[in-house]
Parts: sequence; C-alpha cells; structure tokens
Amino acid sequence: MKELKGVILAGGLGKRLEPLTRITNKHLLPVYNKPMIYYPLELLVSAGIKDIMIVTGGNNAGDFLKLLGNGSEFGLKHIHYTYQRGEGGIAHALKLAEDFAEGKDIVVLLGDNLVEKPINKYVERFKKQKKGARLLLKKVHDPQRFGVAVFEKNKVTKIEEKPKKPKSDYAITGIYMYDNQIFKHINKLKPSKRGELEITDVNNIYIKQGLLEYDILRGWWTDCGTHDSLIKATNLVVSKKR
Ligand code: G1P
Repeated sequence: MKELKGVILAGGLGKRLEPLTRITNKHLLPVYNKPMIYYPLELLVSAGIKDIMIVTGGNNAGDFLKLLGNGSEFGLKHIHYTYQRGEGGIAHALKLAEDFAEGKDIVVLLGDNLVEKPINKYVERFKKQKKGARLLLKKVHDPQRFGVAVFEKNKVTKIEEKPKKPKSDYAITGIYMYDNQIFKHINKLKPSKRGELEITDVNNIYIKQGLLEYDILRGWWTDCGTHDSLIKATNLVVSKKR
C-alpha cells in the first residue's frame, strides 16, 4: 500500500476578508473554538497522514510556528513549513512542496476548506488507485464561485474555473489527491487571466490523460474565504457539536 504525504495550502492574503486579514492570516482566524488551520490538520491526521507540510505566506507566517509548533498537540513528531511569496495561485503554492513530496503521492487540502466527515474512505480508494489524480466533488447552489465539473454521463470531461454559466452543480472541493506526476504538470502551466497558476489547469491535464477519478463528498463542505462563508463555516461547526 502506498504511503501518502499531506500538504496544507495556507498562503494567500485573504483579501476578501479585509479588514480581518489586515493584522493576521486568514488561516489563523477563528472558526468557532479553534483557528481555521486546525481543521485541515486534524482531517489529515485522522486520515492517517502524519507527514505534513504547511505552505504559508503573508505577513504573519511566523505565527503558524507559534501556534502549531511541531504538531505534538495533533500527535505529530514534526510539521514541515514553507513560505509562498505573493499570491501566485494554488498550483504555485503546491510547487513549493515538491522537495518535501520526494516523489510520493500527496493529499492536498486548501486550508480554508472545512468538511463535516472524515475523508478516510476516499484516501483509501486513492491508495488503491494505480496512478493519476482523485478529486472530491460536492453539489452546491452557487457553482459559479468554484471550479465546476463538466460531465458526459458519469465521466468528468472537463473542469471550468468559476464559469459564468456552470454546466453542472458540482463544485470541485479543495481536497485533491495526486500521484508524483503533479509537479511535472505544474511546471508546464502558464499563468491564467488572473495571473495565477491554476489547480484547475492541472486537473484538466489529468482528465486529458484519462487519469482523473472522483468521489462525491458526503456531509457538508464549505470554504471560509469570504465573510459570509466564514460565518457559515462557524455555524456548521457549531451544529456538528450539538
Ligand atoms: C479555489 C479553486 C476552485 C475550487 C475552490 C474550492 O478557488 O480555484 O477550483 O473550487 O478553491 O474552495 P479560490 O477559492 O482559490 O478562488
């Protein structure tokens, strides 16, 4: 069985959360009783992934170290950290984890994506997958905010990033699983119209190669990138506790 490493992307300047993000990083903001970064970290650890890198950035990157240290609170011996300068996009941030990955397959979480249930069974399926990528999709009422899957029958034939006229209601969640080809694909990318290296472009390469699998995520899922989604996430976390 293959051994996986985990990468949490927690860079980005969180501009949509101004002024909350003027003096701290988005991923350090509270979601109910814990800083946001705790949630993806706990999710990876509960899926059995203990070799983890956090890609951070912005003005307060040192605070991650103060908060998390070497991860003993999470049952970890060590946490790896790296720093993303500026906002080059998700794929740009992920590239910083290339040396850390050492050719192993990786589970990548966007640090502002929260889920209700463990992801263990999807991770187990990915471990059995010989090669390629595995995504988790979720039906949403506002797909134009996300990467959206285009289907032909049950097959995803394309992913469109924030389409004005989405071809389905299925968003691509920020939980991605990749084989060791990922960094080769990232190196081929050109910046998008918004000047970023898009993870959607990488996923479309896997689709073209016929190497993209997916699951429909069970339970709720939300990002926390806006004031509305941050309060939604907080309420969902509270409702889970009750
Ligand atoms: C990013 C991805 C998008 C994905 C979303 C999930 O969007 O580009 O494909 O659906 O995360 O949260 P962003 O929030 O960076 O604009």
